[in-house]
Amino acid sequence: MTIRTIALLGISLLGTASAASSCNPLSATGCAADTALATSFAEDFTQESSRFYNETDSGSITYSTESHLGMTLAERYDAPTLISDFYLMYGRVEVELLAANGTGIVSSFFLQSDDLDELDWEWLGGDTTQVQSNYFSKGNTTTYDRGEYHTVTSPQQTWHNYTIDWSMNATTWYIDGVAVRTLANSSSQGYPQSPMLLRMGVWAGGDSSNAAGTIEWAGGETDYTQAPFTMYVRRIVVADYSSGDSYSYGDTSGDWESIDAENGSVYGRYSEAVEEFDLLVEGSTISNSTSTSISAAISSSTSYATTLGNSTTTTAQRSSDTVATETESTTILESSSATNTRFTTAVSSSAYSSTRTSTRASSGNSTTYSASTNSNDGTHAINPSIFFIFMSLASLF
Ligand SMILES: *[C@@H]1O[C@H](CO)[C@@H](O)[C@H](O)[C@H]1NC(C)=O
Ligand SMILES: *[C@@H]1O[C@H](CO)[C@@H](O)[C@H](O)[C@H]1NC(C)=O
Ligand SMILES: *[C@@H]1O[C@H](CO)[C@@H](O)[C@H](O)[C@H]1NC(C)=O
Ligand SMILES: *[C@@H]1O[C@H](CO)[C@@H](O)[C@H](O)[C@H]1NC(C)=O
Ligand SMILES: *[C@@H]1O[C@H](CO)[C@@H](O)[C@H](O)[C@H]1NC(C)=O
Ligand SMILES: *[C@@H]1O[C@H](CO)[C@@H](O)[C@H](O)[C@H]1NC(C)=O
Ligand SMILES: *[C@@H]1O[C@H](CO)[C@@H](O)[C@H](O)[C@H]1NC(C)=O
Ligand SMILES: *[C@@H]1O[C@H](CO)[C@@H](O)[C@H](O)[C@H]1NC(C)=O
Ligand SMILES: *[C@@H]1O[C@H](CO)[C@@H](O)[C@H](O)[C@H]1NC(C)=O
Ligand SMILES: *[C@@H]1O[C@H](CO)[C@@H](O)[C@H](O)[C@H]1NC(C)=O
Repeated sequence: MTIRTIALLGISLLGTASAASSCNPLSATGCAADTALATSFAEDFTQESSRFYNETDSGSITYSTESHLGMTLAERYDAPTLISDFYLMYGRVEVELLAANGTGIVSSFFLQSDDLDELDWEWLGGDTTQVQSNYFSKGNTTTYDRGEYHTVTSPQQTWHNYTIDWSMNATTWYIDGVAVRTLANSSSQGYPQSPMLLRMGVWAGGDSSNAAGTIEWAGGETDYTQAPFTMYVRRIVVADYSSGDSYSYGDTSGDWESIDAENGSVYGRYSEAVEEFDLLVEGSTISNSTSTSISAAISSSTSYATTLGNSTTTTAQRSSDTVATETESTTILESSSATNTRFTTAVSSSAYSSTRTSTRASSGNSTTYSASTNSNDGTHAINPSIFFIFMSLASLF
């Protein structure tokens, strides 16, 4: 029994099919391309995140400075779920989490692709000593023998960090920084290798209408008189190992070689992502100088443009890119107020050039960054450090 049932539950109990399951690239061609994350970020959920949306309308999802994200199953049929609006094509995710209490209550944090590759963490409310790791390849559920249990101290009462490093070669699950499981990509049961989105939520594996095997896996029947059951998330860190604007399936094999990263490349930003992930986990903001070498060079040598029409130009060399010295120029195009600013950044070298226009728009308490890039060289189309420079720039307003 696995978390895949949350999707099935979503369909049977709530009447809402997830976008992810509506076009399966193993059987259909022309499925919509998946929006690429192609960067790294940390989120503490003190307020609603623009990168996630409610997948179901049930239960309650709350954000606060004190409790961060709370996802509550308050009554039967509730299955509060957040789903990312981006995909990773290999990458690393970490969550600092308290699992929900309650026999038969399942807390989950997992990656899932449109063709049902999956990498999971799952906690059962009635199990105060373990967490389960699991994976699926191309939706093959012939056997349910991929799950493994790992010892962890009272996950409903003690905060822990749970990490999945999904690399091309192998996937490693970590608890509080200690590797507890490694899956080689040569596994005879297949290996996740297609763009995955991120989901988290709470559902009742122990609902009496579920199959007996499901209820047993979930640790017994759910007693709704004990509700509400809340899972808490204090922080997530996410890094995408690939670059580009979108990821799509070139054929119906579901194999990584068939995945096309438009305006980027599969695994195209691995070393940057690893660096960014470590910085974000430490609590550093990668908007701030110490991140990739180009932004370090820029931040240490110049001040940013802060007024309309102002432009700064800097020269830097990326440690991951020994061929070219980049010249970068940032110009503020428009600044209608502190809450609405449009920038452009041009990067050029002897090998490539790109321009990126980015907008920062604030409304109420939420701020949205959006950007588009034009480049003559796919490999450098998305320069992650440029994005963070924008953020750093924006924070000066
Ligand atoms: C998500 O659901 C919560 C209630 O659970 C609601 O307060 C919030 O407004 C919803 N957000 C969106 C974007 O629908
Ligand atoms: C689970 O129950 C224990 C004991 O009542 C409580 O201390 C803990 O805060 C609860 N955990 C959550 C996530 O609600
Ligand atoms: C999770 O990891 C971060 C970064 O290493 C650390 O600051 C935090 O204390 C960890 N949380 C727990 C519960 O160990
Ligand atoms: C396994 O990883 C290697 C690179 O380390 C890669 O060449 C190979 O294609 C991968 N195989 C699968 C099935 O992902
Ligand atoms: C690939 O993964 C295998 C199994 O974990 C490991 O033995 C090997 O060293 C890895 N190779 C690389 C290049 O990382
Ligand atoms: C599904 O997995 C089983 C068990 O690992 C394997 O025997 C079978 O060939 C797989 N089916 C497909 C269609 O890959
Ligand atoms: C551009 O911004 C810099 C740094 O804030 C400032 O020193 C400079 O005077 C500005 N130039 C113009 C033309 O506004
Ligand atoms: C938005 O921010 C204001 C000022 O900090 C605060 O009073 C208000 O409660 C916030 N609203 C939400 C929905 O967080
Ligand atoms: C890829 O780049 C081209 C050229 O800049 C652009 O027109 C196109 O929209 C980009 N693709 C996506 C999916 O954004
Ligand atoms: C840069 O880092 C310093 C020290 O960590 C911090 O005080 C400052 O607010 C950061 N600036 C930005 C723009 O993130």
